[in-house]
Amino acid sequence: MEHNNILTERKIGGIQLITINRPKQLNALNSETIHELGNAFKAAEKTPDIRAIIITGAGEKAFVAGADIKEFAHFSVEEGRSLSAKGHDTLFNLVENLRKPVIAAINGFALGGGLELAMSAHIRVASENARLGLPEVSLGVIPGYGGTQRLAQLIGKGRALELITTAGMISAEKANQFGLVNHLVEQSSLIAKCEEIAGKIAANSPSAIGSAIAAVNAQFQEGADGFQAEIEEFGKCFGTDDFTEGTTAFLEKRKPEFRGLITN
Ligand code: CAA
Repeated sequence: MEHNNILTERKIGGIQLITINRPKQLNALNSETIHELGNAFKAAEKTPDIRAIIITGAGEKAFVAGADIKEFAHFSVEEGRSLSAKGHDTLFNLVENLRKPVIAAINGFALGGGLELAMSAHIRVASENARLGLPEVSLGVIPGYGGTQRLAQLIGKGRALELITTAGMISAEKANQFGLVNHLVEQSSLIAKCEEIAGKIAANSPSAIGSAIAAVNAQFQEGADGFQAEIEEFGKCFGTDDFTEGTTAFLEKRKPEFRGLITN
């Protein structure tokens, strides 16, 4: 598939690397980029031999410096509302609910929509130069791609409100201390660290991993009962080829060979 703003690369071991490629704009997310990313994630989810996805930004300065301010600077109330709603649907909720793990490789500034994208991912790894924040109130808006919800879920309401209302940035070290990122590494080892995690994921059952993501996410979905979701997803596993393969391999004292996950 042709893209103007992103690069996709298949790495060995079933890993798909997606790179947002607008380094001159610090990889800011305009609507075309959001659309292309949405398509790339959907395509990766449907491709059986892709087991995990790494998302990063081009260059050494920024993961993503936010939504593209030039694009929305003159928007009306209705256009602003629609920008937010479309972003949730096209990309941010899609990533969070993808049935394949998404790892954000945060290689520099992760601000506004950039931090929101990283927070939609399932796992975050930051390089030492990363700076993270939701500076939207300094522009007269609020985080509109899920930041008010996901930041509070990840670091707690008090810390989230301080970061949002001060429009401040925190260092990668502070983000690690807050649990906002899972790992902190040197920039030169960032993708290698993400690949190491993806490699461990790739050895496990894709269908069970999809069920695990759905069950964990259910806790945060309005009207959903997380424990009930776990019961349902647990039950579904018993009907999968992966379950037969995983348990048979254990009993035969060999490594399982799981098939890729196909979704519609
Ligand atoms: N949108 C559009 N362009 C952006 C951008 C953004 N979010 N962030 C950076 N750029 C552009 C700059 O305009 C500049 O372009 P020109 O060379 O054409 O002038 C280029 O990227 C390089 O940026 P700077 O010269 O500003 O680089 P710097 O090193 O001096 O500063 C920075 C880096 C601190 C990250 C600064 O660029 C910055 O503050 N960016 C904006 C961060 C921000 O406010 N993000 C939130 C956006 S709103 C949002 O995301 C809403 C939402 O939730 C939906």
